Amino acid sequence: MQLQDQSLWRQQAYIGGEWCDAAGGAVIAVNNPADNSPLGSVPDMGEAETRRAIAAADAALPAWRRKTGKERGAILRRWHELILQNIDDLALIMTLENGKPLAEARGEVHYALSFVEWFAEEAKRIYGDVLPNTRSDQRLMAIRQPIGVCAAITAWNFPCALVTRKVSPALAAGCTVVLKPAELTPYSALALAELGRRAGIPDGVFNIVTGNPVAIGRELSGSSIVRKLTFTGSTATGRLLMEQCASNIKKLSLELGGNAPFIVFDDADIDQAVDGLMFSKFRNAGQTCVCANRVFVQENIAAEFSARLQRKVNALRVGNGLQDGVEQGPLINAAAIDKVQRLVADAIDKGAQVLTGGALHALGGLFYQPTVLSGITPAMTIAHEEIFGPVVALSTFTTEQQALDMANDSAAGLAAYFYAGNIDRVWRVMEQLEYGMVGVNTGMISNEVGPFGGIKESGVGREGSRYGMEEFMELKYVCMAGKL
Ligand code: SIN
Repeated sequence: MQLQDQSLWRQQAYIGGEWCDAAGGAVIAVNNPADNSPLGSVPDMGEAETRRAIAAADAALPAWRRKTGKERGAILRRWHELILQNIDDLALIMTLENGKPLAEARGEVHYALSFVEWFAEEAKRIYGDVLPNTRSDQRLMAIRQPIGVCAAITAWNFPCALVTRKVSPALAAGCTVVLKPAELTPYSALALAELGRRAGIPDGVFNIVTGNPVAIGRELSGSSIVRKLTFTGSTATGRLLMEQCASNIKKLSLELGGNAPFIVFDDADIDQAVDGLMFSKFRNAGQTCVCANRVFVQENIAAEFSARLQRKVNALRVGNGLQDGVEQGPLINAAAIDKVQRLVADAIDKGAQVLTGGALHALGGLFYQPTVLSGITPAMTIAHEEIFGPVVALSTFTTEQQALDMANDSAAGLAAYFYAGNIDRVWRVMEQLEYGMVGVNTGMISNEVGPFGGIKESGVGREGSRYGMEEFMELKYVCMAGKL
């Protein structure tokens, strides 16, 4: 692999401003999902190295916290400039380790950049409140302070954006961070750390440990020095981390699995709805937590909708993300392929029809055909589990209430989408959907301004937006008495 700046290809962890290996030199291999070729390795670290990273973050905290928001914001702005200057290398690294097409990887770097820029600006706007006093000899106020050392654990599906969405607000607020990137895609995070070092993020303020997720996660959540843990990943792992964090009542943000409904009412613009679904479903080969998972189309437009959808799905170009024009890359690993195959087989067994796709792609390996299934019923596992693959699961409904009942019939509550024309319906449906985020006549809701996060089993807390900084700060109430 040829980067313009080869020094962004880092195969070591980053602790206290130093690139380092695991004690004993153990490594884990990282492969390219497009052809299973080895990309390299990163240190296989565990408890001891994590404790070292926590100590480094703790040591760096007082000086970082003491800086003004404006000073921290200036460093984040330099980080932003350097990421922007190295966007081609970062996109290439991401496509190699994650498989997403190069154009999509570039899009993700821009998305990642938007968080760095946003929180560089927000760093200057950490306000408190002066409160009305209840006694004439007292003055009351509430101030915001950084929570302290934070742990961040990110997933493989957005190797850059999840890092900056967590690290930028933490640093802007005056916290220091120990990050554990996904072991399948560590190189984007390591390149971001190298650019952060060049931008002037002081030693120990941003640390990365790589390796054993169980050991590192246990140490991060069990440490009483770490005051906050932010995690993106599966609901099962989120539940475990929540249990582990209970021992020291750590503040938590969890961005967990979704099961997004995508409803198309008969007063919708069908082409617009098809385009929205194509984006929402096939972004990152269907491997996002906000991907449309269950598609409900009003019965009287279902035939037309699925005909137009199939034309678009059949035109998707599948292949190695490095090739020009490719729109869908491989899935991340064999477990992802197995899951998609299991869900599709179960749906077919229980009566679903395959309108297109439905099998491994002729390219073999981790490539799966863009697929449309119809006739999905609640008896099928695909109606309840997050697919995390390029499969559209279609069902029909007759009334608005039926659509809402089907959409809300889920333990997950992350994103929901619907397409409709009637303004009264838009308000009714938007308010009744039990989800943290709702896209109305759009399949693309992610940006730095909107609060990203879910309700129910999809997690707690919000990322990005002006609310995202709150997650990394504590509110301190001050009651000041005197001879007034
Ligand atoms: C995710 O899938 O974890 C994030 C998706 C997004 O930010 O849009």
